[in-house]
Amino acid sequence: MGADDTKLEDLVRWREGLVSGEIFVDPGIHRQETERVFPRAWNYLVHESQLRQPGDFVTTFIGADPVLVARQRDGSIAAMLNSCRHRGMAVCRADAGHSRAFTCPFHGWTYDEAGRLINVPNLENGYRGQLDTGAWGLTPVPRVEGYKGLVFATFSPDAPSLVDYLGEMAWYLDCLLDRREGGTEVTGGVHKIRMHGNWKLIAEQFAGDNYHAGITHASAASALAPVTADPAGATDPISADPVPTGRAMRFTTAMARPGRQFSHRQGHGVAGFFTSDKALTGGLRQMARDQAVVADYYEATDVEVTNRLGAERAKGPSGTAGLVFPTFIYLAGVFGASTIGVAHPVGPEHFELWRWCLVDAAAPPEVKAAMVRCHAVWPLGLADADDGENWSAVQAALQGPMARRQLFNYQMGMGLAGPDPVYPGTVSPEPIGEEPQRAFYRRWLEYMTSPDSWPEVVAD
Ligand code: FES
Ligand SMILES: [Fe+2]
Repeated sequence: MGADDTKLEDLVRWREGLVSGEIFVDPGIHRQETERVFPRAWNYLVHESQLRQPGDFVTTFIGADPVLVARQRDGSIAAMLNSCRHRGMAVCRADAGHSRAFTCPFHGWTYDEAGRLINVPNLENGYRGQLDTGAWGLTPVPRVEGYKGLVFATFSPDAPSLVDYLGEMAWYLDCLLDRREGGTEVTGGVHKIRMHGNWKLIAEQFAGDNYHAGITHASAASALAPVTADPAGATDPISADPVPTGRAMRFTTAMARPGRQFSHRQGHGVAGFFTSDKALTGGLRQMARDQAVVADYYEATDVEVTNRLGAERAKGPSGTAGLVFPTFIYLAGVFGASTIGVAHPVGPEHFELWRWCLVDAAAPPEVKAAMVRCHAVWPLGLADADDGENWSAVQAALQGPMARRQLFNYQMGMGLAGPDPVYPGTVSPEPIGEEPQRAFYRRWLEYMTSPDSWPEVVAD
């Protein structure tokens, strides 16, 4: 099956909350995504703290395209295809490092950190001086912009600025990025996991699936709770709700607390946040020592953060998950750590999840170290295994032609989203629902059915 526009509109009927399994397995659809979605959208590249000095670099991807990102002599950040102009070889095969020159391992063409071709073996006797080296630099990614430490890039000349693309999503991202003077940094290295599953499964989850957390992660979350037996009449340490039966129920009851979801026409979403109290610190204090260190830090910085971000953002929107379309994900302050990540598609059936622990730059070293250890437990050690199991089982089921032709139900909370007196943008009145997923697939369809240019957002 190809990816003709009519067919795609039959497969993604977002108005009715219906999405076909075909979009998660079809190679033609995936190929079209690599042409129409990733090169045009703003894709997450790197956190600025990973590129402190000129010559610091990382290698990453924009969709299927390999990209080299480097700090320049003037302090700016440039991105270019990590693909030699001679035969396409990756000129840099390291994940990250520091270098002023990148020598292609195939025939030795050498580029500087700006992508200029600075050395060609046999230039005189082979090319007889006929090669215009100025014309054969690495292909630049033309637009690179940052938002509070996060660096994104697009190949599209028509895309709006990054800030306009983020829109109200920036208000929610600030809960993560702008808690304290000095912003944030990533620490503890990168963690890369190859997942069996289509990239949209994780994207839609971080955009809108708070629903799964109380079920999928129930046992993992309960493993982090105090190890004492629940006395009769015990309450959930996070929600203060009565615990009906044992520890495994605590996370589930916590999910029933009041909250909201946010969705954005550019396809971004905040999967759900709670509005009733400061959920995290109360629960954390009863967990392991590292989480108690983090809880003390949250408490010590509470007034400062409240003054900076306002009362609403100092409590509700933290402790949540979000997506910047198409593949930047985050989890803010859950079980002691905040994580940022990106899901790189690897064909239609797999993606690579890259994650970093994000900390306030101004946090004391012992707090940062505690957060890195919390991050190793959640999400890396527990949540990713739970979610990866789901995605893999979904992907396996969709190998069946009858299974993948089914239309799946994305109808929760239809018609409920709208303006909110406190939270900006399109907001749903519950912390669970599927408005952000519908918005994600609506936007995906607009990219996929726009053959030639940036897909403008049309008014409803
Ligand atoms: S492919 Fe890079 S020098 Fe030939
Ligand atoms: Fe999850």
